[in-house]
Amino acid sequence: MSDSYRFPDDFVWGTATSAYQIEGSPTADGAGHSIWHRFSHTPGNTWLDQTGDIACDHYRRYKDDVAIMAELGANAYRFSIAWARIFPEGTGAINKKGIDFYSRLVDELLKRGIKPNVTLFHWDLPEALDDRGGWLNRDVADWFGDYATTMFEVLGDRVDLWSTLNEPWVVTDGGYLSGVLAPGHSNLFEAPIAAHNLLRSHGAAVERFRSTKAAKKGKIGITVNLEPKYPASDSPQDLAAVRRADAYINRQYLDPVFMGKYPAELREIFGEAWPEWSDEDMRLIKQPIDFLGVNYYTRKVEQYHPDFRPLQTKHVPQPDHIQTETHWEVYPEALTRVLLWVTERYGKVPVYITENGAAFYDPPQAIDGRVEDPLRVEYFRQHLRAAHEAMTKGVNLRGYYAWSLLDNYEWAHGYSKRFGIVHVDYSTQQRTVKSSGRYYASVIASKGAILAK
Ligand code: BGC
Repeated sequence: MSDSYRFPDDFVWGTATSAYQIEGSPTADGAGHSIWHRFSHTPGNTWLDQTGDIACDHYRRYKDDVAIMAELGANAYRFSIAWARIFPEGTGAINKKGIDFYSRLVDELLKRGIKPNVTLFHWDLPEALDDRGGWLNRDVADWFGDYATTMFEVLGDRVDLWSTLNEPWVVTDGGYLSGVLAPGHSNLFEAPIAAHNLLRSHGAAVERFRSTKAAKKGKIGITVNLEPKYPASDSPQDLAAVRRADAYINRQYLDPVFMGKYPAELREIFGEAWPEWSDEDMRLIKQPIDFLGVNYYTRKVEQYHPDFRPLQTKHVPQPDHIQTETHWEVYPEALTRVLLWVTERYGKVPVYITENGAAFYDPPQAIDGRVEDPLRVEYFRQHLRAAHEAMTKGVNLRGYYAWSLLDNYEWAHGYSKRFGIVHVDYSTQQRTVKSSGRYYASVIASKGAILAK
């Protein structure tokens, strides 16, 4: 470990959120429904049937939230656009009021010296498109391409970083295999098709980006969640299990984007459900990208288990390490490891850590205007040190975004898990910067130097 943790002067320090998790007012000003609106309004899908109807009311309070970012000293903000606010039916007629909201948000950020990092898709597919097959319909690449082009045209003069997709693995695994996330399907045959069409849509958007004015100002990439896999033992069966788990979560999306091919293990995992894909599709997917967004939360220790289909691996909890409230092991070393792995396997691509953070057992209310969250402070300290170490070992790391600016709607967990560095009292919408928020502000102000303490 280094004894100096100073980051470069031009390092990007940000916070991150996503549309459905914070905005509220999901149908305001002519917006269409998204699959998350439908999923959360279907009883039994989310914790206490909670929805994103109000969330953090950011749609109406965005100026206050940008002021908090400025108070923290952040110089960047990663947020997503709700596709159904722009195209209520997913395609066709544009809803100008939806565009105006994001345009106002971008202007407010720029006024405060905060660089926008826009994600085009963070899980809230327009319901109207899901009714036409959603990610299972090959036409989705054109629908997404058209929507992306519209956003490039209207915000392209002001946005520095564009991500096509957030965590396509979660979309497919949760949405089409386990069914715990929208649209709630559980079908081995659908999962590879959804994954492939997500990747084709990514490729279509990148291809279109290059000929818009957005390409003069900004850069484009994709954001994936990476979860390093460790074997429970050195047995050949456990090692093979780790290889499958790694292919499934870490290489399924990056190999096609950077290398134009899928990992061989996917055929082993999906068996007869794994289709053959055309060279033309693979060419579309393998568009050169300008940066990679990496979301990192935890690692997993895996063990062979024939009953856990389709991967035949079982996650082995590690009781010696701290677990977050979502039962994720706190393991910062794996952040260094995974960033080095990206660089070794895919080259020295510019990398941003686009999400990193934790849900811990915070006090439910602010007391005397304070929320103390020492475990989260420690989480950030250790992970920022790990990020710095990766940089000193040669990773082209350009920035870090804490997940999340605000406590927010944690998908199927509803409001039961708090990831914010700013506490939200959902009954009053009062925001209180937690001690982790104050700590992050001091890291930013010292350009990382304070991490040594
Ligand atoms: C997602 C976020 C989510 C966070 C914590 C990531 O998988 O991009 O939307 O809130 O992890 O679970």
